[in-house]
Amino acid sequence: MSATAPASPTPRVTAPSLRAMKEAGRPIVMLTAYDFHGARLVEAAGVDAVLVGDSLGMTVLGHGSTLPVTMDDMVRATAAVSRACTRALVIADMPFMSYAADYAEGMRNAGRLVAEGGAAAVKVENASAATLDLVAGLTDAGIPVMGHVGLTPQSVNTLGGYRTQGKDVASATLAIADALALEEAGAFAVVLECVPAELAERISSLLTVPTIGIGAGGGCDGQVQVFHDILGLGDFVPKHAKRYADLGAAIATAVAAYADDVRDGAFPGEEQSTHSAPEVLAEVDAVIEGAAAEGDIAEGLLP
Ligand code: KIV
Repeated sequence: MSATAPASPTPRVTAPSLRAMKEAGRPIVMLTAYDFHGARLVEAAGVDAVLVGDSLGMTVLGHGSTLPVTMDDMVRATAAVSRACTRALVIADMPFMSYAADYAEGMRNAGRLVAEGGAAAVKVENASAATLDLVAGLTDAGIPVMGHVGLTPQSVNTLGGYRTQGKDVASATLAIADALALEEAGAFAVVLECVPAELAERISSLLTVPTIGIGAGGGCDGQVQVFHDILGLGDFVPKHAKRYADLGAAIATAVAAYADDVRDGAFPGEEQSTHSAPEVLAEVDAVIEGAAAEGDIAEGLLP
């Protein structure tokens, strides 16, 4: 028997631990993921939190926006990601119109992301009165909520496009008020999307909960990026993203090599094949011959 105690598993990142990271001045690393293997790689690389973003509408499902994403889409993706993550905090997006029409429906839908999807927290966009009520209700019910202000893609039609927000005084003060209201309602963190860096810095110092920036400069308490954007898995790279790999090109090269091998007869080779035992093969051939002699091979082989 070993005299040393087994190493304790790495502790899970939780919603409160993100706040402790802000207090300690440790930048929070968040990345999106939408499936089991992607999430496994993301967690193994050491991110603190995985966001199952409704950006999956564009990155995975091929939609032009996040608006068509359904609760079922989110629950299924969240469950796959949760199965892969043993340490990182899993946060699931509440999709468009899953919480805006009715408070009780919003509560139930968030509950699905936790109970069926295994998420430890959810994210909502904007700071309307209805959203703030929901943030408070969910927090009371034991579901931590991350807010999202600035460019909120579910409001693309009212915002008039995917534009930087908070560039004039009215829109900057609105972003500040929204972030403060979300904190007041109980949000454990707030995403600041596509706002000027100076505004994000001010919001980050006004809030006691962490701010997570995307296109909001380096003054936030953490950063979130979209998996496909930083890994080169799409055609479009947003200004706020940096490509750390070109997996799209690597995949295209690998698939073309596979296609060439199939067409040239180089795949499958010996390594990918199994063989029958000679005595089994001899018997099978005899059965085929017997059936052929009867006239109809398929019928002759039927038991
Ligand atoms: O859906 C998403 O991926 C997001 C992030 C961009 C913050 O909301």
